[in-house]
Amino acid sequence: MTKSKHQAVGVDIGGTGVKAALVDVKTGELLSDRVKLPTPEGGEPDAIRDAVVELVGRLEAPSGTPIGVTFPAIVRHGRTMSAANVSKAWIGLEAERLFEQALGRDIHFVNDADAAGFAEDHYGAAKDASGLVIMTTLGTGIGGALIYEGVLIPNAELGHLEIDGYDAESRASNRAREREELSWEAWAERLQRYYTHLEFLFSPDLFVVGGGVSKSSELFLPLLRIDTPIVPAKLRNNAGIIGAAALARGV
Ligand code: BGC
Repeated sequence: MTKSKHQAVGVDIGGTGVKAALVDVKTGELLSDRVKLPTPEGGEPDAIRDAVVELVGRLEAPSGTPIGVTFPAIVRHGRTMSAANVSKAWIGLEAERLFEQALGRDIHFVNDADAAGFAEDHYGAAKDASGLVIMTTLGTGIGGALIYEGVLIPNAELGHLEIDGYDAESRASNRAREREELSWEAWAERLQRYYTHLEFLFSPDLFVVGGGVSKSSELFLPLLRIDTPIVPAKLRNNAGIIGAAALARGV
């Protein structure tokens, strides 16, 4: 295999930013700088599409390089079926086709937390784990991924569990922490409730916690009292990019 056979582009669309890089899917390392644009105001399909095209263009990847794209919503058969932190115009949209037409080639299209979970399971914090791994991303929303013995079970919308009458991400996401200016201790109380509930429902073997805030994990993970091991993501904010690329290459 030539070196380029291990390369793929990963694009990670989030509620706050759109990021992309060229990835070595053998090692899970970035081969280029990470390029980034803010998620366009309102999160409308055409504006996000244009941001993706611009970022992919900036990477100047060799032609024919596979492209994986993540999206912060339920993704079924190429359609986006929900829209918690982007425009409602995405609901039911043939989003995979929208990006393919704009980029002029096929893409692999996947939920953002699923891509991040796949990457952590394959190259990162859950590389040596067995049994059930639950990845949660604490960001604008809460993303969830279930990976059992290396197999991804897609579209686990764990951020939308109803807990104490609230949509979980509205209280326990990193955005909720920032919006309400919660102390780490106050936020950890909400996370305690959230992870205890997940633990009760799924009996996982490992929790991996991602999202940008995972770089400060020492400020809140040690405050949690749960039986399941809980570790910060290793690939940090690049997990979505790396997972998208790996899935596009069929790793
Ligand atoms: C969405 C999920 C997404 C998560 C993280 C949630 O609001 O419903 O699909 O994975 O945010 O972006």
